Amino acid sequence: MSKTIFILNGPNLNLLGQRQPEIYGHDTLADVERNCAAVAAERGFAVRLFQSNHEGVIIDTIHQARHEACGIVINPGAFTHTSVAILDALHTFEGPVIECHISNVHKREAFRHHSYVSLRADGVLAGLGVEGYELATRRICSLCAGKG
Ligand code: DQA
Repeated sequence: MSKTIFILNGPNLNLLGQRQPEIYGHDTLADVERNCAAVAAERGFAVRLFQSNHEGVIIDTIHQARHEACGIVINPGAFTHTSVAILDALHTFEGPVIECHISNVHKREAFRHHSYVSLRADGVLAGLGVEGYELATRRICSLCAGKG
């Protein structure tokens, strides 16, 4: 079984650290990758972090995960609220999926309150800042190790 966790990030998250820091903080995706890699390594797993501004690329990466990953942490960004196609792609993946949002989407505009991805996610984190990625990684390691 694969011991690799895919951490997928959607549009505008390449600008993490620069983009609306009052909402998303000052850490970058490189910081997220480093912190999640440490969490995973302690548990005998590895992470691969991806980011794309393009829906189809995210879908292709989910398909890649079918063969290369035991679990997925995904922050689909704004595609969370719009993308049936990403939901459908996640339905083709057999391992655990955790949805992670840096901000508390439920405290924000009404259009952020609905998530298509939540229909597939085994767990959802929102509003825990970038620490949410570390917690999600920790949980995915447990699920991949069969500790449900
Ligand atoms: C986000 C919340 C989304 O509503 C938004 O479009 C994002 C980031 C978050 O991490 O809080 O791009 O997913």
